[in-house]
Amino acid sequence: MARIQIKKEEEIRVMREAGGIASTLLREVVARVVAGRTTRDLDEFAAGRIRAYRCRSAFLGYKGYPCHICISVNEEVVHGIACERVIDEGDLVSLDVGIVHRGFVGDNAATVAVGECSEADAVLLQVTRESLFEGIDQAREGNRVSDISAAIHQHVESRGLSVVREYTGHGVGRELHEEPQIPNFLDGRRTQELRAGMTLAIEPMVNQGTHAIRCLGDKWTVVTRDGRRSAHFEHTVLVTGDEPEILTCPENMPPLQEAERELRGHGKGIAG
Ligand code: MF3
Ligand code: CO
Repeated sequence: MARIQIKKEEEIRVMREAGGIASTLLREVVARVVAGRTTRDLDEFAAGRIRAYRCRSAFLGYKGYPCHICISVNEEVVHGIACERVIDEGDLVSLDVGIVHRGFVGDNAATVAVGECSEADAVLLQVTRESLFEGIDQAREGNRVSDISAAIHQHVESRGLSVVREYTGHGVGRELHEEPQIPNFLDGRRTQELRAGMTLAIEPMVNQGTHAIRCLGDKWTVVTRDGRRSAHFEHTVLVTGDEPEILTCPENMPPLQEAERELRGHGKGIAG
């Protein structure tokens, strides 16, 4: 098994900042998920904010991925591609945001309902989000990767939902995808032990129906085989000698006066 990197204190400091930016950006995009907007509007907005934060998208150009963020609607599981599709009342929109800041990646995702949603959709969102936190709670020194997988799998299946198998969480750092892979289900394989200083992107993808997925002809968009809906939540987490530390939280946002000035349009322009 390949070695899992242990980050140094100064690398962790930068990863906190990257996580702060990724998290702030995710919130800014979530706030703009309203009926009538296109997914392309959201991607363009994200592109502008990433520039303002002096970062780059961790996804754009990754194996040829064509957008700044991933936007996946309803039966789309992950890796949806922004287009002229208009977001509608009742849609479930998954947003996955990864940025590179001073050489390090912050990666996080969330799914939101547009306006009113059905009881079944509300349960899907809640159970997926809970399963992420069940997984995070296992990201402790001395545990194994499989403890994270088992916690997520157990939580989701006990609620009658299913976990996607083909895509996993991952180590994250200078690279978007580092060792280890973090499956969201137990496959019986022996996995590595966790140590303080490991940085992990934990990301359950949960379906209402079958766990089976397929990839669309665009080579990116992953959809459920049965067309039922799916949700996705993700955080970048640091393993410590104590409690797991979520790096993708807005409190980790570094002072970026430049970006803020830009958001306010330098106090000039048409708005005066
Ligand atoms: N959060 C996803 C992941 O870590 C997003 C990857 S999208 C891609 O796998 F375009 F970069 F592939
Ligand atoms: Co990820």
